[in-house]
Amino acid sequence: MSNNTDIDYGPLQGFIGVWVGDKGTDVAPEPDGSENNPYYETITFSAAGDVSNAESQTLAAVHYRQIVQRKSNDQVFHDETGYWMWDGEQKIIMHSLVIPRAVCVLAGGAHTGETDPDGRVVLEVAAGKDDSDWGIVQSPFMRDNARTTGFHHKLTVGEETLSYSETTIVDIYGRVFEHTDENELRRQ
Ligand code: HEM
Repeated sequence: MSNNTDIDYGPLQGFIGVWVGDKGTDVAPEPDGSENNPYYETITFSAAGDVSNAESQTLAAVHYRQIVQRKSNDQVFHDETGYWMWDGEQKIIMHSLVIPRAVCVLAGGAHTGETDPDGRVVLEVAAGKDDSDWGIVQSPFMRDNARTTGFHHKLTVGEETLSYSETTIVDIYGRVFEHTDENELRRQ
């Protein structure tokens, strides 16, 4: 592992820094329907260096910590951490995440330089319970009572703004629920 300064973070380079945003919208499951939670958050991305795997794969990694607070009472109601990783040779982007509900996701996707019309970098990753490449690990309780079966995350990063749209499919209360989160953040 190395953390020298000439690492090529590829499309992840522009993430590094501290981002804040107060336009968050969360739609979460409730026994009798859903709840909508307006939120604000801080996401801190830091360069984590590169790693080599089996002497044949090199990944550049960026660590992040995401702290999300409800606008209604300022309480932290989502706390997430993980890495975004870039395999520059294979042009694969990976996103690992863990949340303190005992759910972990390793999502992945191809990235061949996609941008939006304003030239901002667009990354898209997904995972699913039956996906042999990109999977979900969760506790027995969550598997049996609030199972995450799919995950999709699209993130757009420019010089000053970072926006994302995330869908987590949760099998809960006897139905399949689309748990969604979106926000737009500004660089601090
Ligand atoms: C900004 C991001 C997110 C926010 C603000 C958020 C917020 C919430 C909220 C408010 C609930 C309802 C349960 C409660 O009131 O405690 C919930 C449920 C849940 N979330 Fe999230 N979530 C986010 C992202 C995620 C992600 C990335 C995953 C997993 C990949 C996830 C998995 C779950 C699961 C499995 C439940 C069902 C548990 C339950 O309702 O008892 N969430 N989330």
